Amino acid sequence: MPPQPASTQPARTAPDRERTAERLLASSAKLSFNPLKDVDWDADPVPGAYYCPPRHLSLYGTGLWERMTDEERIELSKHEVASIASVGIWFEEILMQMLLRHAFDRDPTSNHVQYALTEIADECRHSIMFARMIAKMGVPAYGAGFVAHNLGRLFKAISTHSQTFGGTMYVEEILDAFQREVMNDDTLQPLTRQVSRIHVIEEARHISYAREELVRKRLGPVRRRYEQLFIGLIVYYATTALIHPRLYAAVGIEPKTGRAVARANPHWRATKVEMAQKVVSVLDRAGLVGRTNRWLLRAAGVVA
Ligand SMILES: [Fe+2]
Ligand SMILES: [Fe+2]
Repeated sequence: MPPQPASTQPARTAPDRERTAERLLASSAKLSFNPLKDVDWDADPVPGAYYCPPRHLSLYGTGLWERMTDEERIELSKHEVASIASVGIWFEEILMQMLLRHAFDRDPTSNHVQYALTEIADECRHSIMFARMIAKMGVPAYGAGFVAHNLGRLFKAISTHSQTFGGTMYVEEILDAFQREVMNDDTLQPLTRQVSRIHVIEEARHISYAREELVRKRLGPVRRRYEQLFIGLIVYYATTALIHPRLYAAVGIEPKTGRAVARANPHWRATKVEMAQKVVSVLDRAGLVGRTNRWLLRAAGVVA
């Protein structure tokens, strides 16, 4: 990914806002889910099945991993999936507020605002679905951690257009990359596969809404740096929050040790780079990756 000179305006062509929203509304009417009814909440977990592909676990391939039993590895996969889902709830709650602010000043009769409201309704159902999945697994909702949680409090109140849609794209795309694999792997737990499938289908619309909004805003060189800094902070905090160190205690590993081993784990780093590859190039094309935030992306472990 070559650095983008600040003076270069990226190509900015976006289809008409109303037509896009009309298409997304029609698609939502055709295929939306009610997770309370569309997930089999009564089924027992399948013995011996992972909750996500083991190669995507933060300790995979390390010495600690080699010393774990199969049961411990599966337990770790359950806690890591729950941790990621709880970060999903944290971000969806932020996103719902940002979308409400986006809708607040616009014409509610427009398709554009009606789709924003539809997306809020989707996210509301998703957060309930994730919460229910975590409760069903019988593990804690680890959350994003103290710093990220409270930065989220500020961010959801002051985010700009580029930060709202750039941040949204980032979190939605990394979850999408992870969940697509989960839904397509029939060796995994049916619960996480069903939840992932619903989320992937509905998020595809959110991602196309955010992607088009992202290229609508023209940014001058100074403003671009400001937006890049915030996007970098979102990438850093959302990515490092995914795996809460407290979860390592569930498999007998001291949280500080688990976190340090995961940080140094080249497999985990490669997983993060793989998950973020597509969205980082979209953000780059929108002029939102540059000198101001590349160091934060590197610190988050999502670019080499
Ligand atoms: Fe969602
Ligand atoms: Fe979404």
